[in-house]
Amino acid sequence: MKTSAVILAAGLGTRMRSQIPKVLHPLLGRPLVSYALQAAREATGTNSVMVVGHGAEAVRQTVGDAARFVVQEPQLGTGHAVQQAEALLGGQADQILVTSADMPLLTPQTLQNLIRNQIDHRGPFTMLTITPPEARGFGRVIRDDDENVIAIVEEAQALPEQLAIKELNAGVYCFDANWLWESLPRIPLSPKGEYYLTDLVEIASRDGLPVQAIHAQDDSEAIGVNTRLHLADAEALMRQRVNRQLMLDGVSIVDPATAYIEPGVVIGQDTTIWPNTFLQGNTVIGENCTIGPNTLMRDTRLGSNCQVIASVLEESVVEDDVDIGPYSHLRRGAHLAQGVHMGNFGEVKDSYLGPGTKMGHFSYVGNTTTGPDVNIGAGTITCNYDGKSKHPTEVGANVFIGSDTMLVAPVKLDDGSRTGAGSVVTKDVPANTLAVGAPARAIRKLKKGD
Ligand code: UD1
Ligand code: CA
Repeated sequence: MKTSAVILAAGLGTRMRSQIPKVLHPLLGRPLVSYALQAAREATGTNSVMVVGHGAEAVRQTVGDAARFVVQEPQLGTGHAVQQAEALLGGQADQILVTSADMPLLTPQTLQNLIRNQIDHRGPFTMLTITPPEARGFGRVIRDDDENVIAIVEEAQALPEQLAIKELNAGVYCFDANWLWESLPRIPLSPKGEYYLTDLVEIASRDGLPVQAIHAQDDSEAIGVNTRLHLADAEALMRQRVNRQLMLDGVSIVDPATAYIEPGVVIGQDTTIWPNTFLQGNTVIGENCTIGPNTLMRDTRLGSNCQVIASVLEESVVEDDVDIGPYSHLRRGAHLAQGVHMGNFGEVKDSYLGPGTKMGHFSYVGNTTTGPDVNIGAGTITCNYDGKSKHPTEVGANVFIGSDTMLVAPVKLDDGSRTGAGSVVTKDVPANTLAVGAPARAIRKLKKGD
């Protein structure tokens, strides 16, 4: 039994009041549409067909080959939208799952329940219903005296007694494919000039075919995003979901309301997340770490037993036993090896700091590699940019860089060398040699124990 999904995304999204297509607005770091795509892929095991219209080109570019596309032009309603997918899916699947791109909270489990129910009952289709405290403009589910679902009435058309109905149409369905393609052309034009997918309930019911309705486990799954208020609601719920799962998996989150962790971030056991922490993109954090408060990490890989306080780490790699902050910044290409200590007000970019290296206070290190156990004194700056291009700085093992040293790149400090406070190093310093002054010149060879 093969199920394919159709994701509706052709609508205008007027209520967002935006130049950006609604389904491309970010929710917890990803475009809104990516959630529906992923849930449908997990539930069906295959890529979906997306029905696009308004902003089609931008949506296509963002989604890429994660879906196949059909264009609905003009947009004549949800029934008309599904009909466009027949060109790609007719004869290709036994069941057609229909969902909307603006419903990010639907879980693959719920979609699977819908598919399972449809396979077990073999009627024309199974639909998802919810009973939330607010009606949010959803269609009302009309049942007869025997509790059979016989119609869905849109809010705009509902009679007062129908408006009082608490059971609502979530807008997610699993159809028998043959029945769907045969029945879509039977949908009548609504007074508003649209073909409502929801009219299929009445069509099936009049044919004496039983429509199945299953209830969502959690009403919040069916939150559709129509306005920016809904977007914020949905994001808050998604955050709760992510944080909850992390906590169940052994991560401590001191104040979940202020932990902004994107889905897909991986965090090891017994790591603690302090408040006001943002973990984004492909960030991976090891075990027994302390992150935050006031920290942002994006696309960064952090080892185990690390501490990061009030710092920003972007596109960086940090090995085990490293401590960073407060107030430090790793930029793209920073790599701190095991046991590095990086204290206050440090910035590292495109550089490798060897194991055990210490950079305690007020330094900028760019386009640099250091050996192990280097001491980078307070205020050390790599002058890596001459106004035209970047130049490398190379620092050997056990080098001691005195406070306020300027390393004018390209320059090399060989193993065991040392610079005096305030040196301006414009020439390479040989191994085991002390250099001082501005510009620094080598003054004497160092002896062991110096
Ligand atoms: C729809 C249902 C309603 C249900 C609600 C749940 C219909 C007629 N009504 O209403 O019963 O309670 O969803 O959220 O189906 N779309 C297209 N092409 C179109 C029109 C819409 O692709 O021509 C897409 C939209 O982009 C959206 C989805 O279909 O992703 C739903 O359309 P929308 O206009 O939001 O329907 P609702 O009024 O929410
Ligand atoms: Ca909607």
